[in-house]
Amino acid sequence: MTAAVALEVRPGVPAGAAALPRRRFFRPTWAEVDLGALARNLRAFRARMPAGVKLMFVVKANAYGHDAALCARAAEASRAADWLGVSSVEEGVALREAGVRLPILILGSLYPFESALAAVAHGLTPIAASLESARRLAEVAARLGRRVDCHVKVDTGMGRIGPGPEAALAVARRLAALKAVRVQGLYTHLAKAEEDPRFTAAQLKAFRGVIAALAAEGVRPPLIHAANSAGALRHPEARFDLVRPGLAIYGLWEGFEPVLSLKSQIVFLKTVPKGATVSYGATWRARRPTRVATLPVGYADGYARALSNRAHVLVGGRRCPVIGRVTMDQVMVDVTAAPGARVGDEVVLIGRQAAAEVPAGELARLCGTIPYETVTQLSSRVPRLGVRT
Ligand SMILES: Cc1ncc(COP(=O)(O)O)c(C=O)c1O
Repeated sequence: MTAAVALEVRPGVPAGAAALPRRRFFRPTWAEVDLGALARNLRAFRARMPAGVKLMFVVKANAYGHDAALCARAAEASRAADWLGVSSVEEGVALREAGVRLPILILGSLYPFESALAAVAHGLTPIAASLESARRLAEVAARLGRRVDCHVKVDTGMGRIGPGPEAALAVARRLAALKAVRVQGLYTHLAKAEEDPRFTAAQLKAFRGVIAALAAEGVRPPLIHAANSAGALRHPEARFDLVRPGLAIYGLWEGFEPVLSLKSQIVFLKTVPKGATVSYGATWRARRPTRVATLPVGYADGYARALSNRAHVLVGGRRCPVIGRVTMDQVMVDVTAAPGARVGDEVVLIGRQAAAEVPAGELARLCGTIPYETVTQLSSRVPRLGVRT
């Protein structure tokens, strides 16, 4: 196993531990984040947009579980992203502390309003989603004695945060009248860009109404944006000045390369006789003598319990079924189809091995959810390793 080796024993370990091998983790379960694929996806996405359209790479929720610092630094180095999008001040501060210098927009609402001060002080760009937040931004500018940039959010049908078109106009007007606050951006979020062109058209029409009304008053924010991955790829009229993809850049959209693989190793192997049962509740019973491998990964790692008796993993390039219930820390697999399997063999739970593949979308379908949830639920217990292909 090359992936799990490397890096250092953490500072503060007892003196005797210095004699231990220098490894960051011992339990052989980890996620590989292919930063080469990420950079290629960024470039491929850009290439599908008209020249001049800027790209905000959405790295909220720990870059959809892929490790925000790793992904943001790779995006910055690739020069294929102009902005990063996060959901909270904390996420933005963590990126600044990781040395990321790209502009960062906090897409989520700022509450309590003290967080606006923290955001600006850390070089993050806040949004204004109400008259109250507009007022608070003016206070922050006064307190820091410098101009504050913000993006005004318009709710055109998502119904999550932000004022509707009329009220958004009032917010933008109030801010435009202040010297200390600049409306750098005006944006909305599409609720059905993947499946409903009419709904999307109605949202864009409402958004264009706000843009036109402001233009009539001489206000034209430099960055107008609306499109997530689906919006940008499927609705050219939603691209405006900047697009905000997440999903496609992580390769969770057709035509882009998957970035994350979840891997483990066989830590225990046995043959059970016909009639033997496996795991809690004895929900799986052997119909024939069966080679059973145990993997040190469970629902506490984000490998959902709903995958019990349903998912497949890859061993020796073959699809092998998960048998019995997924437990908190371990899962069992029928590896009879991979007769050469040995303790220590690498197992792929998400990703490719030889010609076989288990995409994140397959696990999402088995759990009745979407790939966003499958990858974001990978827990902090799983080390993320940056690799490059
Ligand atoms: C405001 C906003 N913009 C952009 C995105 C990126 O969306 P996607 O991952 O579908 O490209 C998200 C993600 O949910 C979002 O909340």
